[in-house]
Amino acid sequence: MSNVLEERTRSEPSREVSLEPSESAQRRSLEKPAILDVHDVTVAYHRKPVLWDVDLVIREPRLIGIIGPNGAGKTTLLNLLTGFLRPDSGRCLLGGRETTHLAPHRIARLGVGRTFQDLRLIEQVPGLENVMLARPNQRGEGLMAALLRFGVAKEEAANREEAMRLLRFVGLADKAAGLAGELSYGEQKLLTIACCLATEARILFFDEPVTGVHPEIAGQILDLLRRITNDGKLVVFIEHDISAVRRVADLVIVMDDGRVITQGPPSEVLERPEILEAYVG
Ligand SMILES: Nc1ncnc2c1ncn2[C@@H]1O[C@H](COP(=O)(O)OP(=O)(O)O)[C@@H](O)[C@H]1O
Ligand SMILES: [Mg+2]
Repeated sequence: MSNVLEERTRSEPSREVSLEPSESAQRRSLEKPAILDVHDVTVAYHRKPVLWDVDLVIREPRLIGIIGPNGAGKTTLLNLLTGFLRPDSGRCLLGGRETTHLAPHRIARLGVGRTFQDLRLIEQVPGLENVMLARPNQRGEGLMAALLRFGVAKEEAANREEAMRLLRFVGLADKAAGLAGELSYGEQKLLTIACCLATEARILFFDEPVTGVHPEIAGQILDLLRRITNDGKLVVFIEHDISAVRRVADLVIVMDDGRVITQGPPSEVLERPEILEAYVG
C-alpha cells in the first residue's frame, strides 16, 4: 500500500507523503498510468482561488477519505474530477486519459461515477427505477428500439435484474417499489450509492455519504464503501467524522483553504495533534 498516494513535489514538508514507494513499486508506476492524477490544479470563483496548486497522484484502487473544514474545497475537487468544473490552470487525468476539458457525461463514460451532497434522486419514481435509469447504454424509446422491441424487452429485463441486485447489495431490496422521495434520508443515501454503482464506474466519488444519517445506516454505508473498494474500485469519499475515516479508509487527504495540506494512512495522519486540533475539531 506504500505508493498509493504520492505527491509529485517533495520540497514542502507539509505536503510530504508519509510512506516511500518501494523500488519495485516505482518501477511498476513507470509502466502503469495513475488511476487519478491531478496536476497543479488551481480553480477560482470570481477571481478568488478555491483550489490552489492541488497535486495528487493515486495509483491503486483504494478507499480514500477527504476531510477538512467547510469551504476547504472538497466538493470543488470532486466537481473538477467529474467534469462539472474546469480548472483555471493545471490538468486532470483519469486512468491515463486527459479529462481536464471533458464534459461530465464524457468522463462518466470513462467509468467515473459520483453522488452529490444534495442527492439528486428522481423522487417521484420508485427506487428500482432510479437505479435502472442510471444504467449505461439504455436504448430508450427511439425508432430502432421500436423495431427491435424483443431486444429491448430482454435488455430491460437484464437492467431490472441488475438494479435489483444492486438494491440488495445496499440493503434496500424491500424498498424497491417505494417512491424514492418516500424513503428515509439514510435510505436515500443508500439509493444514490446503488445508482452510482449502476453506472458500472470503476472510480467512484461520494460527497458526504454519511452526513446527517442515522448512525446505524452510517455504519452500513461505510461498510459498503469498504466492500466496493475490495471489489477493485477506487472510492473517494468526503467525510466530517474523523472516526469514520479512521475506521474504514486506507488513506486520508486533509484539505484546508483550497489546499491539500497533508495525506497518508489514517493511523499516521489522524494521530497528529495539529491535524486533530485544526482540521478535525
Ligand atoms: N458556485 C460557486 N460560486 C462561488 N463560490 C463557490 C461556488 N462553489 C463553491 N464556492 C466557494 O468555494 C469554496 C470551496 O467550496 P466547497 O468546495 O464547496 O467546500 P467544501 O466542500 O470543502 O465545504 C468555498 O469558499 C465556497 O464558498
Ligand atoms: Mg462540500
